[in-house]
Amino acid sequence: MPTLMTEATTLPTPLGGTLVNLIRRPGHDFDPAELRGLPRLELSDRSAADLELIATGAYSPLTGFLGEADYLSVIERMRLSGGTPWSVPITLPVSREDAGRLSGTVVLTHGGQEVGTIEVQERYDARKGFEAREVYRTEDPAHPGVAALYAQGEVNLAGPVTLFAVPRGAFPVHHRTPAEVREVIQARGWRSTVAFQTRNPIHRAHEYLQKVALELVDGLLLHPLVGTTKGDDVPAATRVEAYEVLLEKYYPQARTLLSVYPAAMRYAGPREAIIHALSRRNYGATHFIVGRDHAGVGSYYGTYDAQEIFHAFTAEELGIRILRFEHTFYCRSCGQLVSPRTCPHDSGHHLILSGTKVREKLRAGEDLPAEFTRPEVAEVLRRAYTAQDA
Ligand code: ADX
Repeated sequence: MPTLMTEATTLPTPLGGTLVNLIRRPGHDFDPAELRGLPRLELSDRSAADLELIATGAYSPLTGFLGEADYLSVIERMRLSGGTPWSVPITLPVSREDAGRLSGTVVLTHGGQEVGTIEVQERYDARKGFEAREVYRTEDPAHPGVAALYAQGEVNLAGPVTLFAVPRGAFPVHHRTPAEVREVIQARGWRSTVAFQTRNPIHRAHEYLQKVALELVDGLLLHPLVGTTKGDDVPAATRVEAYEVLLEKYYPQARTLLSVYPAAMRYAGPREAIIHALSRRNYGATHFIVGRDHAGVGSYYGTYDAQEIFHAFTAEELGIRILRFEHTFYCRSCGQLVSPRTCPHDSGHHLILSGTKVREKLRAGEDLPAEFTRPEVAEVLRRAYTAQDA
């Protein structure tokens, strides 16, 4: 567990030392006529998100999609070939036909719009079985991350990228690059900042973790992932509405920053927890919360595997402190949020609802217990769920 002290901390150095910035604005940084006649490639939502994360420095030190040596090294030993920690391969998968026709500078499009470029330096076959076994710890096609891996193209393109503009689309007010989040942290004078990754609405257990952490550090970066998630996760727009309501009413404004994290979910559990933490370091966080089954799905990972895996690295290598929390829930006898570390009562006293149960209740238009979810949040969720089924 972390020591109960706030340390004097400045902004952490980005992984690799420099915050990568590969934004090149057409008409400002280069002449758009240069793009004429170049081959084009339409990106998936996930690859478009990865492009943004690379180009804005969220994935520093990456400056492009991984080449084969880095790809194999990341899969095998959770490090780039130079030794820097990295746990999930960030690749640009394409069909064999596309791989055959694409070389040199390629214009990347998303939804038909030109969004950036890649300088194709390498093409290599994806090792899907190997990647699934090592990164996802399963080859089961029912795992959503494995399913996405098996469905993608056979060949990875690699090379440095550029991004034409930050796609602030759905959440313009909350969409900040790592440099912009760092500016806010600096302007507010936070000496330490805890980042919270989530793909869910904030239930009372999440709030508890965040507020315990806020007792120790100066600021909270509430950093919900808003890229692609699996179909039965609560949509990002509903979640963001619920975060806004909750923050306004129950969080100290000056010590909280809501900002969206554009990545897609991979559901790679422990491996994903590492890039979740490393990228939050790049956003300027000094601390990162890892609770139960972080980034997990189904029962593919042990409850605390995503905490254990960080022991593969030194504190210095990580450059961000991991705040580990045990399973947290409401105890009727304690009358508060607790964990097995703090509560002496057995499970009969505990209020624990699965995600499936929560969704069932919402679809039926039922209330969620206030000890599980604040009524204001439950109301946003219920409205979204009943509207969806109408
Ligand atoms: S995740 O896929 O983004 O990890 P989720 O939004 O559910 O899923 O969790 C966000 C963070 O809160 C993760 O670090 C997770 O481990 C932690 N967490 C979620 N629920 C609990 C809980 N009841 N007790 C302890 N930690 C939790």
